[in-house]
Amino acid sequence: MANQKVSRIGVLTGGGDCPGLNAVIRVVTKAAIGQLGLEVYGIEDGFLGLIRNRMRPLTRDDVSNILTAGGTILGTSNKANPAKFATGKGPDGKPVFEDVTERVLEHIQDRRLDAIVCIGGDGTMSGATNLIRRGVKCIGVPKTIDNDLMSTDLTFGFTTAVQTATECLDKIHSTASSHHRVMVVELMGRNAGWLTLSAGLAAGADVILIPEIPYDIEKVCDACIQRDRRGKRFTLIAVAEGAAPRGGQQVVDKIVHDSPDPVRLGGVSTVLAEQISERTGLETRATILGHVQRGGTPVAFDRVLATRFGHKAVQLIAEGQWNQLVVWQRGAVDCVPIESVADRQRTLAPDDPMIAMARAVDTSLGD
Ligand code: F6P
Repeated sequence: MANQKVSRIGVLTGGGDCPGLNAVIRVVTKAAIGQLGLEVYGIEDGFLGLIRNRMRPLTRDDVSNILTAGGTILGTSNKANPAKFATGKGPDGKPVFEDVTERVLEHIQDRRLDAIVCIGGDGTMSGATNLIRRGVKCIGVPKTIDNDLMSTDLTFGFTTAVQTATECLDKIHSTASSHHRVMVVELMGRNAGWLTLSAGLAAGADVILIPEIPYDIEKVCDACIQRDRRGKRFTLIAVAEGAAPRGGQQVVDKIVHDSPDPVRLGGVSTVLAEQISERTGLETRATILGHVQRGGTPVAFDRVLATRFGHKAVQLIAEGQWNQLVVWQRGAVDCVPIESVADRQRTLAPDDPMIAMARAVDTSLGD
């Protein structure tokens, strides 16, 4: 091993959960113990475990039989950024944020963690960057159903979410057809349309609305009316939670005040359904798929991808290649500096081939 000083590593899962997290924990633990002779500590609830000093040793037995399980055996949090952590409430009732990095560094030292494997998205990589700047060795593994992490063509969890959302769209397709309705289905993805475009294409949605292409409500209504005139008496619309009308705003579901990234999108499908029904007279319903998209067992592809990513993370540890994020580029596993991806989001480019493909099969993108 290039860096003999490392004898104990921590592993954490941060941000929103997704299928495949356990597959990474499993391979990191097994390979770090079995191949490198390291000790592995599981940090509970992402960076919250580092803030609260909550972690436990992991053995190979602890990670046996978790490959297919959804979620994360370590727990996670999408509110615990040590650089901006809500420690209480001010006189106005609003959360007070503090930088608790010093406390985290004490806990890392106290537990004798020589390096940390951070499994997460852009927020987690931002947390890792903060630690790297304070001298902590980190390795990043890219997860998110949104597929919006910079520098990687794919995150694990995304393919399973596409499969889940496609199955939901398929089910709604059949009821749309029976009832001759316009069905507006809302998918997650924050400011990126990867999940909605992929699942929408897979399910043959008639209209797909993504954040990268502001929609024109007239065009959306026109697509429904044209289909009705052609005797197709239903329309299936897949809309991303981050989609917005041209010149308009995204619909915000809630503000999570104690989160460093407080905006939670949601509700655009309800707004759209009302507008479509009012303008066209067609019977319209809205469905928000919500967190069902993050749950369940990972599909085979994600089990293998997550395991490849976790294996690469252990190889980077063995080589002493610190502060790298494992990535998937042009069909191969590689790595880039964690700092280069922190707090940045990868969205669809206007010339992405999937957008041209959608237009080629007469899908309206609402523009
Ligand atoms: O980043 C994953 C994600 O599921 C997004 O698609 C969604 O906008 C957000 O998390 C929802 O966050 P929460 O679980 O806090 O409601």
